[in-house]
Amino acid sequence: MGVLKDCINKKKISSIPVWFMRQAGRYLPEFRDIRSKNTNFMNLCLDPKLSKEISIQPLKRFNIDAAIIFSDILFIPFALGQSVEFEKNFGPRLGELNYESILNTPDKEISSKLSPIYELINLTAKDKILDDKDLIGFVGATWTILVYMLNKQSPKKKLDKNIFNKPHQDELISKIIQTQKIHIKNQVESGASLIQIFDSWAGLLDEDKKEKYIYQPTKEIVEFTKNLGVEVICFPRNIKSYKEYCDMVKPSAINIDYEVNPIKIAESIEIPIQGGMDPKCLLLDKNDMLKNAKKYLEVFKNHKYIFNLGHGVLPETKPDNVKTLVDFVKDFK
Ligand code: CP3
Repeated sequence: MGVLKDCINKKKISSIPVWFMRQAGRYLPEFRDIRSKNTNFMNLCLDPKLSKEISIQPLKRFNIDAAIIFSDILFIPFALGQSVEFEKNFGPRLGELNYESILNTPDKEISSKLSPIYELINLTAKDKILDDKDLIGFVGATWTILVYMLNKQSPKKKLDKNIFNKPHQDELISKIIQTQKIHIKNQVESGASLIQIFDSWAGLLDEDKKEKYIYQPTKEIVEFTKNLGVEVICFPRNIKSYKEYCDMVKPSAINIDYEVNPIKIAESIEIPIQGGMDPKCLLLDKNDMLKNAKKYLEVFKNHKYIFNLGHGVLPETKPDNVKTLVDFVKDFK
């Protein structure tokens, strides 16, 4: 097990843990090389050998502390039989919802549809490059999955309010939660040492709906994962109050976005913090990039802190800047 887990468990660590969301992605030429030969993104994720290779690509280049599995949050709707495709310059496009078949998908079918992901985790966890490092598995949060399943595409700016009036909503939510639990348990049993929950659209929800759509289901998933003996990092992107979220959901650690003031976070939240820096800082010249990194490192100096970003690495990032940043974090005292 790696330093991320030690940090979260408040054990003594020799340097600040660091990894990045989307650390395996289009900014790496070796990723683009595999991707150009595999135009179907979902099929690429379901090829255990290739997705394992992609998962460890950033560890071959940088002194980072964790690999995150190369997969996607939209494998939950996929496992429930909703079609998912990724279109160039559009993003994900999901198919019609067949409630009858979705709500009746047997647990065994979910596990078998997702089995290449468990094979990917198995292969990755066994690789020597992961010795003393963490392997992060993940799921999308119930709310974010529900948004994609009903909206059938990225909600980008505005959420179609109609999604709250669709039929069978409570049954669908229960089915998503059950599928998330199956997926998390299988990932842990295959070798994932930590779980991260991505609630990318948490910021879209009105205050009065947060309890039902975010707090209740996420609390249940967090409890379930902790009961498996595994720590959970939550990322409710753009949520108005991270403090309230932590009090309600009780994650092991919390990833913050780049719009929230880190000083306020350090003052109000006691659990380990992850992330925060704007991914655009990696596009600046190196001095300015490091100035921004130093700001986060200083603010969280007396906190348990895992260095990461406030969202994923951007495709236009230079790999050499990532290396400079990682080395800076690792040397920071
Ligand atoms: O962090 C990692 O590198 C691990 C792998 C990972 C991917 N997606 C691979 C991916 C993780 C953790 C995700 C999570 C994910 N997927 C989220 C939550 C995090 C976030 O970004 O807010 C969401 C909302 C999705 C859904 C999704 N997948 C979208 C909207 C897109 C298209 C937009 C984009 O960034 O290209 C994807 C595609 C996707 N998932 C890519 C990768 C590396 C890009 C694939 C490519 O075109 O090469």
